[in-house]
Amino acid sequence: MVKDEYIIYTDGACSGNPGPGGWGALIRHRGEETEISGSAANTTNQRMELQAAVEALRSTPSGSIIKLYSDSAYLVNCFKQSWMDRWLKNGWRNSKGEQVENRDLWEQLLELARERKVEWIKVKGHSFDEDNKRVDILARGALRSGNPVSDDPELSQITFVDEGVRYEDEAGVESLRRMGILTGGGDCPGLNAVIRAVVKGATYNYEMEVIGFNNGFRGLVENDAAVINDKDVSGILNRGGTILGTSNRDNPFDYRPDGSDYRKTGCDRSDDAVKNIRKWGIECLVVIGGDGSLLLAHRFSKLGVPIIGIPKTIDNDLPATDVTFGFDSAVTTATEAIDKIHTTAESHHRVMVVEVMGRHAGWIALQAGMAGGGDIIIIPEIPFDYEHIIDKISDRRRRGKKFSIIVVAEGAYHTGEEPVYQNKGNVKRLGGIGPIISEEIEKRTGMESRATVLGHLQRGGSPTSYDRVLATRFGVKAVELFREGRFNEMVCLKGNQIESVPLEEAVAGTKRVDPESEQVRAAIAVGTSFGCAL
Ligand code: F6P
Repeated sequence: MVKDEYIIYTDGACSGNPGPGGWGALIRHRGEETEISGSAANTTNQRMELQAAVEALRSTPSGSIIKLYSDSAYLVNCFKQSWMDRWLKNGWRNSKGEQVENRDLWEQLLELARERKVEWIKVKGHSFDEDNKRVDILARGALRSGNPVSDDPELSQITFVDEGVRYEDEAGVESLRRMGILTGGGDCPGLNAVIRAVVKGATYNYEMEVIGFNNGFRGLVENDAAVINDKDVSGILNRGGTILGTSNRDNPFDYRPDGSDYRKTGCDRSDDAVKNIRKWGIECLVVIGGDGSLLLAHRFSKLGVPIIGIPKTIDNDLPATDVTFGFDSAVTTATEAIDKIHTTAESHHRVMVVEVMGRHAGWIALQAGMAGGGDIIIIPEIPFDYEHIIDKISDRRRRGKKFSIIVVAEGAYHTGEEPVYQNKGNVKRLGGIGPIISEEIEKRTGMESRATVLGHLQRGGSPTSYDRVLATRFGVKAVELFREGRFNEMVCLKGNQIESVPLEEAVAGTKRVDPESEQVRAAIAVGTSFGCAL
Protein backbone atom coordinates (compact mmCIF):
# COMPACT_ATOMS: atom_id res chain seq x y z
CA MET A 1 0.00 0.00 0.00
CA VAL A 2 1.20 3.52 -0.59
CA LYS A 3 1.56 5.66 2.52
CA ASP A 4 -0.90 8.23 3.75
CA GLU A 5 1.33 11.27 3.81
CA TYR A 6 1.29 15.03 4.13
CA ILE A 7 3.12 17.18 1.66
CA ILE A 8 4.06 20.57 3.02
CA TYR A 9 5.33 23.57 1.10
CA THR A 10 6.65 26.41 3.24
CA ASP A 11 7.98 29.85 2.60
CA GLY A 12 8.89 32.96 4.48
CA ALA A 13 9.02 36.37 2.84
CA CYS A 14 10.22 39.69 4.13
CA SER A 15 11.35 42.93 2.65
CA GLY A 16 14.52 43.83 4.39
CA ASN A 17 16.34 41.69 6.85
CA PRO A 18 15.07 42.27 9.51
CA GLY A 19 11.95 43.98 8.28
CA PRO A 20 8.22 43.51 7.87
CA GLY A 21 7.38 40.11 6.47
CA GLY A 22 5.10 37.12 6.43
CA TRP A 23 5.22 33.41 6.25
CA GLY A 24 3.01 30.75 4.84
CA ALA A 25 2.52 27.10 4.27
CA LEU A 26 0.42 24.97 2.01
CA ILE A 27 -0.44 21.47 3.19
CA ARG A 28 -1.66 18.73 0.87
CA HIS A 29 -3.23 15.61 2.20
CA ARG A 30 -5.22 13.15 0.11
CA GLY A 31 -5.56 15.80 -2.57
CA GLU A 32 -7.04 18.41 -0.19
CA GLU A 33 -5.19 21.65 0.46
CA THR A 34 -4.98 23.71 3.62
CA GLU A 35 -3.31 27.06 3.80
CA ILE A 36 -1.62 28.49 6.84
CA SER A 37 -0.44 32.04 6.92
CA GLY A 38 0.97 34.35 9.55
CA SER A 39 2.86 37.56 9.79
CA ALA A 40 5.80 38.74 11.82
CA ALA A 41 6.93 42.31 11.99
CA ASN A 42 10.57 43.23 12.32
CA THR A 43 12.03 39.83 12.20
CA THR A 44 14.38 38.00 9.89
CA ASN A 45 13.46 35.95 6.88
CA GLN A 46 15.18 32.95 8.39
CA ARG A 47 13.06 33.15 11.51
CA MET A 48 9.94 33.31 9.38
CA GLU A 49 10.98 30.23 7.45
CA LEU A 50 11.31 28.33 10.68
CA GLN A 51 7.96 29.66 11.88
CA ALA A 52 6.26 28.49 8.70
CA ALA A 53 7.67 24.99 9.11
CA VAL A 54 6.80 24.83 12.83
CA GLU A 55 3.19 25.83 12.20
CA ALA A 56 2.82 23.51 9.23
CA LEU A 57 4.23 20.50 11.10
CA ARG A 58 2.13 21.35 14.14
CA SER A 59 -1.04 21.28 12.05
CA THR A 60 -0.47 17.62 11.10
CA PRO A 61 -1.37 14.83 13.54
CA SER A 62 1.41 13.33 15.60
CA GLY A 63 2.81 10.24 13.85
CA SER A 64 2.17 11.60 10.34
CA ILE A 65 4.44 10.92 7.44
CA ILE A 66 5.66 14.23 6.05
CA LYS A 67 7.36 15.39 2.92
CA LEU A 68 8.54 18.92 3.24
CA TYR A 69 9.36 21.39 0.50
CA SER A 70 11.12 24.55 1.54
CA ASP A 71 13.09 27.25 -0.19
CA SER A 72 15.27 27.47 2.88
CA ALA A 73 18.57 25.66 3.10
CA TYR A 74 18.71 27.14 6.60
CA LEU A 75 15.63 25.15 7.63
CA VAL A 76 17.10 21.93 6.34
CA ASN A 77 19.92 22.26 8.86
CA CYS A 78 17.44 21.40 11.55
CA PHE A 79 17.14 17.94 10.11
CA LYS A 80 20.84 17.36 9.74
CA GLN A 81 21.99 15.12 12.52
CA SER A 82 25.51 16.52 12.48
CA TRP A 83 24.35 20.11 13.03
CA MET A 84 21.98 19.19 15.76
CA ASP A 85 24.49 16.94 17.52
CA ARG A 86 26.96 19.78 17.52
CA TRP A 87 24.48 22.34 18.76
CA LEU A 88 23.13 20.10 21.48
CA LYS A 89 26.65 19.17 22.58
CA ASN A 90 27.84 22.76 22.58
CA GLY A 91 24.84 24.10 24.49
CA TRP A 92 23.30 25.64 21.36
CA ARG A 93 26.45 27.40 20.27
CA ASN A 94 27.83 27.30 16.76
CA SER A 95 31.39 26.39 15.80
CA LYS A 96 32.51 29.95 16.58
CA GLY A 97 31.07 29.60 20.08
CA GLU A 98 28.23 32.05 19.37
CA GLN A 99 24.70 31.45 20.65
CA VAL A 100 22.57 29.84 17.95
CA GLU A 101 19.89 32.17 16.73
CA ASN A 102 16.24 31.14 16.81
CA ARG A 103 16.93 28.40 19.31
CA ASP A 104 13.30 28.40 20.45
CA LEU A 105 12.08 27.55 16.96
CA TRP A 106 14.83 25.01 16.31
CA GLU A 107 13.79 23.21 19.45
CA GLN A 108 10.13 23.18 18.48
CA LEU A 109 11.05 21.84 15.07
CA LEU A 110 13.13 19.09 16.59
CA GLU A 111 10.30 18.03 18.84
CA LEU A 112 7.77 18.07 16.01
CA ALA A 113 10.10 16.18 13.69
CA ARG A 114 10.61 13.58 16.39
CA GLU A 115 6.87 12.96 16.73
CA ARG A 116 6.32 12.82 13.00
CA LYS A 117 8.24 10.95 10.36
CA VAL A 118 9.75 13.54 8.07
CA GLU A 119 10.64 11.41 5.06
CA TRP A 120 12.42 13.97 3.03
CA ILE A 121 12.99 17.63 2.57
CA LYS A 122 13.42 19.26 -0.75
CA VAL A 123 15.00 22.61 -1.06
CA LYS A 124 13.70 24.35 -4.12
CA GLY A 125 14.36 27.77 -5.52
CA HIS A 126 12.54 30.73 -4.05
CA SER A 127 8.77 30.13 -4.15
CA PHE A 128 8.39 26.53 -4.94
CA ASP A 129 4.75 25.68 -5.12
CA GLU A 130 3.52 23.96 -8.26
CA ASP A 131 2.72 27.20 -10.02
CA ASN A 132 5.96 28.58 -8.64
CA LYS A 133 4.38 31.46 -6.82
CA ARG A 134 1.57 30.35 -4.57
CA VAL A 135 3.47 29.97 -1.32
CA ASP A 136 5.12 33.30 -1.82
CA ILE A 137 1.66 34.81 -2.20
CA LEU A 138 0.61 33.06 0.98
CA ALA A 139 3.51 34.51 2.84
CA ARG A 140 2.84 37.99 1.53
CA GLY A 141 -0.86 37.56 2.25
CA ALA A 142 0.09 36.77 5.81
CA LEU A 143 1.78 40.11 6.09
CA ARG A 144 -1.43 41.83 5.04
CA SER A 145 -3.68 39.70 7.25
CA GLY A 146 -1.72 40.51 10.37
CA ASN A 147 -2.20 37.03 11.84
CA PRO A 148 -0.13 36.61 14.95
CA VAL A 149 2.86 34.37 14.83
CA SER A 150 2.67 31.40 17.13
CA ASP A 151 5.87 31.05 19.11
CA ASP A 152 5.87 28.43 21.78
CA PRO A 153 8.80 29.13 24.10
CA GLU A 154 8.28 25.91 26.06
CA LEU A 155 11.31 23.73 25.74
CA SER A 156 10.98 19.98 25.75
CA GLN A 157 13.28 17.07 26.24
CA ILE A 158 14.88 16.60 22.85
CA THR A 159 15.87 13.34 21.29
CA PHE A 160 16.61 13.95 17.67
CA VAL A 161 16.28 11.08 15.27
CA ASP A 162 16.81 11.74 11.59
CA GLU A 163 16.65 8.15 10.43
CA GLY A 164 15.39 7.92 6.89
CA VAL A 165 15.48 11.64 6.21
CA ARG A 166 16.65 12.37 2.71
CA TYR A 167 17.99 15.73 1.60
CA GLU A 168 17.72 17.02 -1.89
CA ASP A 169 18.79 20.34 -3.19
CA GLU A 170 17.18 21.53 -6.33
CA ALA A 171 17.31 24.91 -7.91
CA GLY A 172 13.97 25.94 -9.38
CA VAL A 173 11.08 23.68 -10.21
CA GLU A 174 8.74 23.27 -13.13
CA SER A 175 5.08 22.62 -12.56
CA LEU A 176 4.59 19.00 -11.57
CA ARG A 177 2.09 17.15 -13.73
CA ARG A 178 0.24 14.29 -12.16
CA MET A 179 -0.81 10.83 -13.23
CA GLY A 180 -2.87 8.50 -11.10
CA ILE A 181 -2.32 4.76 -11.16
CA LEU A 182 -4.19 1.73 -9.85
CA THR A 183 -4.03 -2.04 -10.23
CA GLY A 184 -7.40 -3.76 -10.65
CA GLY A 185 -8.66 -7.33 -10.90
CA GLY A 186 -6.77 -10.49 -9.95
CA ASP A 187 -3.10 -10.00 -9.15
CA CYS A 188 -0.46 -11.41 -11.46
CA PRO A 189 3.32 -11.40 -11.72
CA GLY A 190 4.62 -8.20 -13.31
CA LEU A 191 2.25 -5.66 -11.71
CA ASN A 192 5.03 -4.20 -9.60
CA ALA A 193 7.30 -4.06 -12.62
CA VAL A 194 4.72 -1.87 -14.40
CA ILE A 195 4.23 0.42 -11.39
CA ARG A 196 8.00 0.80 -11.15
CA ALA A 197 8.29 1.61 -14.85
CA VAL A 198 5.53 4.23 -14.70
CA VAL A 199 6.98 5.91 -11.61
CA LYS A 200 10.58 5.85 -12.85
CA GLY A 201 9.60 6.72 -16.41
CA ALA A 202 7.61 9.71 -15.18
CA THR A 203 9.88 11.03 -12.47
CA TYR A 204 13.31 10.41 -14.04
CA ASN A 205 12.46 11.90 -17.38
CA TYR A 206 9.91 14.56 -16.56
CA GLU A 207 8.88 16.78 -13.67
CA MET A 208 5.94 14.55 -12.86
CA GLU A 209 4.33 12.96 -9.87
CA VAL A 210 2.52 9.64 -9.74
CA ILE A 211 -0.37 9.18 -7.31
CA GLY A 212 -1.10 5.57 -6.41
CA PHE A 213 -4.61 4.48 -5.42
CA ASN A 214 -4.70 1.52 -3.06
CA ASN A 215 -6.75 -1.63 -3.64
CA GLY A 216 -7.93 -0.97 -7.17
CA PHE A 217 -11.10 1.01 -7.71
CA ARG A 218 -11.85 0.92 -3.97
CA GLY A 219 -9.00 3.36 -3.38
CA LEU A 220 -10.44 5.66 -6.01
CA VAL A 221 -13.83 5.81 -4.29
CA GLU A 222 -12.37 6.09 -0.78
CA ASN A 223 -9.57 8.45 -1.81
CA ASP A 224 -7.08 6.02 -0.31
CA ALA A 225 -4.07 7.31 -2.19
CA ALA A 226 -0.65 8.88 -1.90
CA VAL A 227 2.30 9.94 -4.01
CA ILE A 228 4.49 7.01 -5.08
CA ASN A 229 8.10 8.04 -5.18
CA ASP A 230 11.29 6.53 -6.42
CA LYS A 231 12.03 4.95 -3.05
CA ASP A 232 8.67 3.17 -2.99
CA VAL A 233 9.43 1.36 -6.24
CA SER A 234 12.96 0.38 -5.40
CA GLY A 235 13.51 -3.38 -5.30
CA ILE A 236 10.06 -4.37 -6.55
CA LEU A 237 10.86 -5.36 -10.15
CA ASN A 238 11.09 -9.04 -9.27
CA ARG A 239 8.32 -9.08 -6.68
CA GLY A 240 4.97 -10.73 -7.41
CA GLY A 241 1.68 -9.14 -6.37
CA THR A 242 1.18 -5.40 -6.31
CA ILE A 243 2.45 -2.83 -3.82
CA LEU A 244 -0.82 -0.97 -4.38
CA GLY A 245 -3.07 -3.88 -3.51
CA THR A 246 -5.92 -4.85 -5.80
CA SER A 247 -9.50 -6.04 -5.83
CA ASN A 248 -11.61 -7.87 -8.37
CA ARG A 249 -14.86 -7.14 -6.57
CA ASP A 250 -15.02 -3.36 -6.22
CA ASN A 251 -16.96 -1.51 -8.85
CA PRO A 252 -17.51 2.24 -8.27
CA PHE A 253 -20.72 2.06 -10.32
CA ASP A 254 -22.10 -0.68 -8.06
CA TYR A 255 -20.23 -0.10 -4.84
CA ARG A 256 -20.53 -1.78 -1.45
CA PRO A 257 -18.84 -0.70 1.77
CA ASP A 258 -15.79 -2.69 2.80
CA GLY A 259 -16.65 -6.06 4.33
CA SER A 260 -20.25 -6.12 3.08
CA ASP A 261 -21.66 -8.95 1.02
CA TYR A 262 -20.31 -8.46 -2.48
CA ARG A 263 -23.12 -10.54 -3.93
CA LYS A 264 -25.68 -7.87 -3.02
CA THR A 265 -26.43 -4.78 -5.10
CA GLY A 266 -24.43 -1.70 -4.19
CA CYS A 267 -24.77 1.98 -5.07
CA ASP A 268 -23.20 4.24 -7.67
CA ARG A 269 -20.15 6.01 -6.19
CA SER A 270 -18.54 6.91 -9.51
CA ASP A 271 -19.06 10.63 -8.75
CA ASP A 272 -16.91 10.33 -5.64
CA ALA A 273 -14.23 8.56 -7.65
CA VAL A 274 -14.21 11.36 -10.25
CA LYS A 275 -14.14 14.03 -7.52
CA ASN A 276 -11.13 12.37 -5.92
CA ILE A 277 -9.29 12.31 -9.23
CA ARG A 278 -9.97 16.04 -9.64
CA LYS A 279 -9.00 16.77 -6.03
CA TRP A 280 -5.54 15.42 -6.67
CA GLY A 281 -5.19 17.42 -9.87
CA ILE A 282 -4.63 14.18 -11.75
CA GLU A 283 -4.55 14.65 -15.51
CA CYS A 284 -4.84 11.00 -16.42
CA LEU A 285 -5.53 7.71 -14.68
CA VAL A 286 -3.42 4.68 -15.59
CA VAL A 287 -5.45 1.52 -15.08
CA ILE A 288 -3.49 -1.73 -15.02
CA GLY A 289 -6.03 -4.49 -15.41
CA GLY A 290 -7.77 -7.21 -17.34
CA ASP A 291 -11.10 -6.98 -19.12
CA GLY A 292 -13.16 -6.13 -15.99
CA SER A 293 -10.92 -3.28 -14.86
CA LEU A 294 -10.50 -1.94 -18.38
CA LEU A 295 -14.28 -1.93 -18.84
CA LEU A 296 -14.59 0.17 -15.68
CA ALA A 297 -11.79 2.41 -16.96
CA HIS A 298 -13.69 2.80 -20.21
CA ARG A 299 -16.80 3.88 -18.28
CA PHE A 300 -14.73 6.51 -16.45
CA SER A 301 -13.40 7.75 -19.78
CA LYS A 302 -17.03 8.36 -20.78
CA LEU A 303 -17.37 10.51 -17.65
CA GLY A 304 -14.48 12.65 -18.87
CA VAL A 305 -11.60 11.03 -17.00
CA PRO A 306 -8.60 10.64 -19.34
CA ILE A 307 -7.48 7.01 -19.16
CA ILE A 308 -4.46 4.99 -20.22
CA GLY A 309 -4.89 1.22 -19.97
CA ILE A 310 -2.19 -1.42 -19.46
CA PRO A 311 -3.21 -5.01 -20.26
CA LYS A 312 -2.69 -7.45 -17.40
CA THR A 313 -3.89 -10.99 -16.94
CA ILE A 314 -2.47 -14.45 -16.68
CA ASP A 315 -5.34 -15.56 -18.97
CA ASN A 316 -3.95 -13.69 -22.02
CA ASP A 317 -7.53 -13.23 -23.23
CA LEU A 318 -7.51 -9.52 -24.18
CA PRO A 319 -8.14 -9.13 -27.91
CA ALA A 320 -6.14 -5.96 -28.61
CA THR A 321 -2.70 -7.18 -27.57
CA ASP A 322 -0.71 -10.17 -28.73
CA VAL A 323 0.31 -10.89 -25.15
CA THR A 324 -0.65 -9.61 -21.70
CA PHE A 325 2.00 -9.45 -19.01
CA GLY A 326 1.61 -12.16 -16.36
CA PHE A 327 0.81 -14.83 -18.93
CA ASP A 328 4.38 -15.98 -19.41
CA SER A 329 4.93 -16.29 -15.64
CA ALA A 330 1.72 -18.33 -15.19
CA VAL A 331 2.69 -20.60 -18.08
CA THR A 332 6.16 -21.07 -16.59
CA THR A 333 4.66 -22.07 -13.23
CA ALA A 334 2.20 -24.45 -14.89
CA THR A 335 4.93 -26.00 -17.04
CA GLU A 336 7.15 -26.60 -14.02
CA ALA A 337 4.20 -28.25 -12.27
CA ILE A 338 3.52 -30.51 -15.26
CA ASP A 339 7.21 -31.48 -15.34
CA LYS A 340 7.03 -32.49 -11.68
CA ILE A 341 3.76 -34.35 -12.08
CA HIS A 342 5.34 -36.31 -14.93
CA THR A 343 7.58 -38.15 -12.49
CA THR A 344 4.67 -39.47 -10.40
CA ALA A 345 2.70 -40.35 -13.53
CA GLU A 346 5.64 -42.35 -14.84
CA SER A 347 6.55 -44.04 -11.55
CA HIS A 348 2.98 -45.03 -10.61
CA HIS A 349 1.67 -45.66 -14.15
CA ARG A 350 -1.16 -43.25 -13.52
CA VAL A 351 -3.23 -40.81 -15.49
CA MET A 352 -2.46 -37.41 -14.00
CA VAL A 353 -4.85 -34.54 -14.70
CA VAL A 354 -3.54 -30.99 -14.20
CA GLU A 355 -6.18 -28.24 -14.10
CA VAL A 356 -4.95 -24.76 -14.98
CA MET A 357 -6.64 -21.34 -14.91
CA GLY A 358 -7.53 -19.14 -17.87
CA ARG A 359 -11.28 -18.56 -17.55
CA HIS A 360 -13.00 -19.14 -20.90
CA ALA A 361 -9.77 -19.11 -22.90
CA GLY A 362 -7.39 -22.04 -23.24
CA TRP A 363 -4.14 -20.11 -23.60
CA ILE A 364 -2.46 -21.28 -20.40
CA ALA A 365 -3.51 -24.91 -21.00
CA LEU A 366 -2.34 -24.87 -24.60
CA GLN A 367 0.99 -23.17 -23.92
CA ALA A 368 1.88 -25.06 -20.72
CA GLY A 369 0.44 -28.29 -22.11
CA MET A 370 2.70 -28.11 -25.15
CA ALA A 371 5.73 -26.98 -23.14
CA GLY A 372 5.21 -29.72 -20.55
CA GLY A 373 4.57 -32.46 -23.12
CA GLY A 374 0.93 -33.04 -22.11
CA ASP A 375 -0.59 -36.03 -23.94
CA ILE A 376 -4.07 -34.57 -23.93
CA ILE A 377 -4.84 -30.82 -23.79
CA ILE A 378 -8.40 -29.84 -23.11
CA ILE A 379 -9.44 -26.25 -23.72
CA PRO A 380 -12.77 -24.36 -23.69
CA GLU A 381 -12.51 -23.60 -27.40
CA ILE A 382 -12.63 -27.33 -28.23
CA PRO A 383 -15.32 -29.19 -26.23
CA PHE A 384 -14.11 -32.69 -25.34
CA ASP A 385 -15.73 -36.09 -25.08
CA TYR A 386 -14.66 -39.02 -22.92
CA GLU A 387 -14.43 -41.54 -25.76
CA HIS A 388 -11.61 -39.59 -27.38
CA ILE A 389 -9.76 -39.18 -24.11
CA ILE A 390 -10.03 -42.91 -23.35
CA ASP A 391 -8.98 -43.79 -26.91
CA LYS A 392 -5.85 -41.71 -26.51
CA ILE A 393 -4.98 -43.24 -23.14
CA SER A 394 -5.56 -46.77 -24.50
CA ASP A 395 -3.53 -46.05 -27.60
CA ARG A 396 -0.63 -44.93 -25.40
CA ARG A 397 -0.90 -48.11 -23.33
CA ARG A 398 -0.78 -50.22 -26.48
CA ARG A 399 2.44 -48.44 -27.35
CA GLY A 400 3.87 -49.34 -23.94
CA LYS A 401 3.30 -45.94 -22.35
CA LYS A 402 1.60 -46.76 -19.11
CA PHE A 403 0.91 -43.24 -17.99
CA SER A 404 -0.75 -40.17 -19.46
CA ILE A 405 -0.74 -36.48 -18.64
CA ILE A 406 -3.88 -34.46 -19.25
CA VAL A 407 -3.76 -30.66 -19.04
CA VAL A 408 -7.21 -29.15 -18.76
CA ALA A 409 -8.27 -25.51 -18.70
CA GLU A 410 -10.69 -24.56 -15.91
CA GLY A 411 -13.24 -23.32 -18.49
CA ALA A 412 -13.24 -26.55 -20.55
CA TYR A 413 -16.44 -28.55 -20.86
CA HIS A 414 -17.81 -31.80 -22.26
CA THR A 415 -19.59 -31.61 -25.62
CA GLY A 416 -23.21 -30.65 -25.03
CA GLU A 417 -22.56 -29.63 -21.42
CA GLU A 418 -21.71 -26.41 -19.55
CA PRO A 419 -18.41 -25.32 -17.95
CA VAL A 420 -18.03 -26.37 -14.31
CA TYR A 421 -18.39 -23.76 -11.57
CA GLN A 422 -17.32 -24.16 -7.96
CA ASN A 423 -20.35 -22.44 -6.51
CA LYS A 424 -23.79 -21.58 -7.66
CA GLY A 425 -25.85 -18.41 -7.32
CA ASN A 426 -24.79 -15.07 -8.74
CA VAL A 427 -21.07 -15.55 -7.96
CA LYS A 428 -19.59 -17.87 -10.50
CA ARG A 429 -16.07 -19.16 -10.08
CA LEU A 430 -14.80 -21.60 -12.64
CA GLY A 431 -13.02 -24.69 -11.41
CA GLY A 432 -13.41 -28.39 -10.73
CA ILE A 433 -13.39 -29.92 -14.20
CA GLY A 434 -9.98 -31.59 -13.53
CA PRO A 435 -11.17 -33.84 -10.66
CA ILE A 436 -14.36 -34.68 -12.61
CA ILE A 437 -12.35 -35.87 -15.62
CA SER A 438 -9.97 -37.80 -13.37
CA GLU A 439 -12.81 -39.70 -11.64
CA GLU A 440 -14.46 -40.51 -14.94
CA ILE A 441 -11.19 -41.93 -16.32
CA GLU A 442 -10.80 -44.21 -13.29
CA LYS A 443 -14.39 -45.40 -13.74
CA ARG A 444 -14.02 -46.06 -17.44
CA THR A 445 -10.50 -47.54 -17.57
CA GLY A 446 -9.82 -48.95 -14.12
CA MET A 447 -6.51 -47.09 -14.23
CA GLU A 448 -5.48 -45.03 -11.24
CA SER A 449 -5.92 -41.33 -11.86
CA ARG A 450 -5.23 -38.20 -9.78
CA ALA A 451 -6.11 -34.58 -10.34
CA THR A 452 -4.08 -31.53 -9.30
CA VAL A 453 -5.69 -28.10 -9.45
CA LEU A 454 -2.91 -25.52 -9.72
CA GLY A 455 -5.19 -22.59 -8.82
CA HIS A 456 -3.65 -19.39 -7.53
CA LEU A 457 -0.12 -20.77 -7.64
CA GLN A 458 -0.23 -19.55 -11.23
CA ARG A 459 -0.78 -15.96 -10.13
CA GLY A 460 1.97 -15.95 -7.53
CA GLY A 461 5.70 -15.62 -7.36
CA SER A 462 8.28 -13.69 -9.23
CA PRO A 463 7.61 -12.60 -12.82
CA THR A 464 9.68 -14.26 -15.53
CA SER A 465 12.30 -12.15 -17.29
CA TYR A 466 9.94 -11.94 -20.29
CA ASP A 467 7.16 -10.49 -18.13
CA ARG A 468 9.52 -8.07 -16.37
CA VAL A 469 10.65 -6.67 -19.70
CA LEU A 470 7.14 -6.56 -21.20
CA ALA A 471 5.76 -4.87 -18.08
CA THR A 472 8.57 -2.31 -18.14
CA ARG A 473 7.98 -1.52 -21.83
CA PHE A 474 4.23 -1.17 -21.20
CA GLY A 475 4.81 1.20 -18.25
CA VAL A 476 7.24 3.40 -20.15
CA LYS A 477 4.86 3.54 -23.13
CA ALA A 478 2.03 4.66 -20.82
CA VAL A 479 4.14 7.63 -19.69
CA GLU A 480 4.94 8.46 -23.32
CA LEU A 481 1.25 8.44 -24.21
CA PHE A 482 0.60 10.81 -21.32
CA ARG A 483 3.34 13.19 -22.50
CA GLU A 484 1.86 13.12 -26.00
CA GLY A 485 -1.62 13.84 -24.61
CA ARG A 486 -2.96 10.57 -26.03
CA PHE A 487 -5.66 9.35 -23.71
CA ASN A 488 -8.32 6.65 -23.70
CA GLU A 489 -5.90 4.23 -25.28
CA MET A 490 -4.41 0.97 -24.08
CA VAL A 491 -0.77 0.07 -24.60
CA CYS A 492 -0.30 -3.24 -26.36
CA LEU A 493 2.19 -5.60 -27.96
CA LYS A 494 1.93 -6.15 -31.73
CA GLY A 495 4.61 -8.48 -33.02
CA ASN A 496 7.60 -7.20 -31.11
CA GLN A 497 6.50 -3.57 -31.08
CA ILE A 498 4.84 -1.75 -28.21
CA GLU A 499 1.94 0.22 -29.62
CA SER A 500 -1.42 1.49 -28.44
CA VAL A 501 -5.06 0.97 -29.40
CA PRO A 502 -8.27 2.83 -28.55
CA LEU A 503 -9.78 1.65 -25.27
CA GLU A 504 -12.96 0.55 -27.11
CA GLU A 505 -10.91 -1.99 -29.03
CA ALA A 506 -9.24 -3.17 -25.87
CA VAL A 507 -12.53 -4.07 -24.20
CA ALA A 508 -14.28 -5.56 -27.23
CA GLY A 509 -14.71 -9.27 -26.62
CA THR A 510 -12.35 -12.04 -25.58
CA LYS A 511 -9.31 -13.41 -27.39
CA ARG A 512 -9.61 -17.18 -27.55
CA VAL A 513 -7.58 -20.00 -29.06
CA ASP A 514 -8.37 -20.65 -32.71
CA PRO A 515 -8.80 -24.45 -33.11
CA GLU A 516 -7.55 -24.09 -36.69
CA SER A 517 -4.43 -22.19 -35.67
CA GLU A 518 -0.91 -23.23 -36.57
CA GLN A 519 -0.15 -23.74 -32.87
CA VAL A 520 -2.99 -26.23 -32.39
CA ARG A 521 -1.95 -28.00 -35.60
CA ALA A 522 1.64 -28.21 -34.36
CA ALA A 523 0.46 -29.83 -31.13
CA ILE A 524 -1.60 -32.36 -33.08
CA ALA A 525 1.38 -33.04 -35.35
CA VAL A 526 3.40 -34.27 -32.37
CA GLY A 527 0.63 -36.60 -31.24
CA THR A 528 -1.23 -34.39 -28.75
CA SER A 529 -4.95 -35.07 -28.45
CA PHE A 530 -7.48 -32.31 -27.78
CA GLY A 531 -10.00 -34.81 -26.47
CA CYS A 532 -12.18 -34.72 -29.57
CA ALA A 533 -12.05 -35.46 -33.27
CA LEU A 534 -10.10 -32.69 -35.02
O1 F6P B 1 -8.41 -13.80 -14.45
C1 F6P B 1 -7.42 -14.38 -13.68
C2 F6P B 1 -7.98 -15.55 -12.90
O2 F6P B 1 -6.91 -16.13 -12.17
C3 F6P B 1 -8.68 -16.60 -13.73
O3 F6P B 1 -7.80 -17.41 -14.45
C4 F6P B 1 -9.50 -17.30 -12.67
O4 F6P B 1 -10.64 -17.89 -13.22
C5 F6P B 1 -9.90 -16.16 -11.77
O5 F6P B 1 -8.96 -15.12 -11.97
C6 F6P B 1 -9.94 -16.53 -10.31
O6 F6P B 1 -10.39 -15.42 -9.58
P1 F6P B 1 -10.38 -15.34 -7.99
O7 F6P B 1 -8.99 -14.96 -7.59
O8 F6P B 1 -11.37 -14.31 -7.66
O9 F6P B 1 -10.73 -16.71 -7.48
